[in-house]
Amino acid sequence: MQLLLEKIRQQGIVLPNNVLKVDSFINHQMDPQLMKEIGKEFARRFQNEGVTKILTIESSGIAPAIMTALVMNVPVIFAKKRKPLTLTEHAYTSSVYSYTKQETNIISVSKDYLKSNDTVLIIDDFLANGEAALGLINIVNEAQAKVAGIGIVIEKSFQEGAKKITNKGYRLESLARIASLENGTVTFYHEHSL
Ligand code: G4P
Ligand code: NA
Ligand code: NA
Repeated sequence: MQLLLEKIRQQGIVLPNNVLKVDSFINHQMDPQLMKEIGKEFARRFQNEGVTKILTIESSGIAPAIMTALVMNVPVIFAKKRKPLTLTEHAYTSSVYSYTKQETNIISVSKDYLKSNDTVLIIDDFLANGEAALGLINIVNEAQAKVAGIGIVIEKSFQEGAKKITNKGYRLESLARIASLENGTVTFYHEHSL
């Protein structure tokens, strides 16, 4: 997605430890026009999958997820990172280990909003080691619903997440695929491989 790649080139900041800071348009300040285009692009790519619901995880997945849901005209659910006590008996849960933060979060979705007849498109801002995406996949599977695919705004293709997801047979669509952040520089995969 050309507009996104330009934005990353212009405003992305490469931090040590292979982290791409995109606080000016995704993770702190948000660019609604870009998010709108992101939503349209995910909707276009998954238009024939029979999607009934979009699932993301708080907090930074919510913006691209709701824009996609708006275009696809389906509800969006965000998994919660802290399990409220009142949800314990009535929620699907999965544990998600963050390598970046070195902590495990229990993520949860109420059973009220995910049903076995749902076809679920999973959306997130970043795909790194894939723990969050796999946790969301687990939750959809627990609900005996169908995974339509996984839509990612920025995939760090040099980390394990993309491989883990596609090896399990899921359809993965990433709008920007980063081959490397070596030497403080963003290197994308060639457009044609997107
Ligand atoms: P994983 O889910 O793919 O295994 O990712 P990991 O544990 O490594 O990432 C932990 C958090 O850091 C996630 O956000 C993830 O989106 C984010 N992240 C990973 N790599 C990058 C990066 O290069 N740049 C940026 N900006 N973020 C990255 P989170 O903790 O769920 O936070 P939130 O922002 O959604 O609240
Ligand atoms: Na995220
Ligand atoms: Na994040």
